[in-house]
Amino acid sequence: MFIRNADCMDHQAVEHLVKTHFLAEVYAVATLRSFSAIHPLYKLLFPHFRYTLHINTGGRRNLFGPEGALSKSSLGYEGLTELMRRALSETTYSSLCLPENIIARGLESVPNFYYRDDGLNLWNIVNSFVKAVVGYYYPSDSEVRKDTELQEWICEIFTHGFLGNTASEFPASFDTVEEVIKFITMLIFTVTGQHAAVNNGQFDYYSWGPNESLLLIKPPPTTKGQSSMKTILETLPDVGDTVSFAAMVWLLSAKYTDEVLMGEYPDERFQEPAAKQMMKKFQAELSDLSEAISTRNLQLEIPYTYLNPTEIENSVAI
Ligand SMILES: [Fe+2]
Repeated sequence: MFIRNADCMDHQAVEHLVKTHFLAEVYAVATLRSFSAIHPLYKLLFPHFRYTLHINTGGRRNLFGPEGALSKSSLGYEGLTELMRRALSETTYSSLCLPENIIARGLESVPNFYYRDDGLNLWNIVNSFVKAVVGYYYPSDSEVRKDTELQEWICEIFTHGFLGNTASEFPASFDTVEEVIKFITMLIFTVTGQHAAVNNGQFDYYSWGPNESLLLIKPPPTTKGQSSMKTILETLPDVGDTVSFAAMVWLLSAKYTDEVLMGEYPDERFQEPAAKQMMKKFQAELSDLSEAISTRNLQLEIPYTYLNPTEIENSVAI
């Protein structure tokens, strides 16, 4: 129970808030500040920031503020802030790139690991889309070096998002087309698939308090054999806190009516037929992946649905 409690706080504060919501906000603000609206990367990225500033503004008030739901966690508001501060200082560029993350954690051959399997397929689909679009607008590395808007954008992200931390190995400038492709793949994957993976299962895992609780009232036991049903019940939060946490995860896992799914671009920003064709191919590949995941899930006792493209939004919006 105590390990699950620590996992819950790490999941909410670090994996969910810092590494998807707040990074998405950094990318969104840098995009708005650095690129003109006719820049091809603005056109490519802008749809991936829909509602991100709105949900984060609301989240800072209702979830993560001093009075928010997360402040009722075992660590409290100040503890969670410290956890997030340390997590950001230890976050590396490589850890946000799924193929490298999986290898670094030695998870390549763990069986039945659907987050890895679906996530890597999704990463590759995003990567080939980004490669096509970026390659079309930047035929050579010198185009990348000459683009002052692009260089300002990545410098803002490095300076204000990663606080200039060179140990993170985040780029502060771009020299090659390849570097731009990798960064934008990471960005789009983070705000679509990675956010869905850490967001969409919240109600499944947290709605039944004893499975994983944000708050435990008592400290962990220090002697074996001393726990009983009585001490377990004394350790769990009361009905009011349990219900308000369940309500929060219900809200955060809910579907709403005007969502835009991954790969859908309802506003036509690109006029070039080549770019429109790339989007069509991207959508077709996402649809194929969705079909493959649905077929695989028929064989599973507990289907893994979080990375099915039909369940992934195009931006961090909830
Ligand atoms: Fe979220």
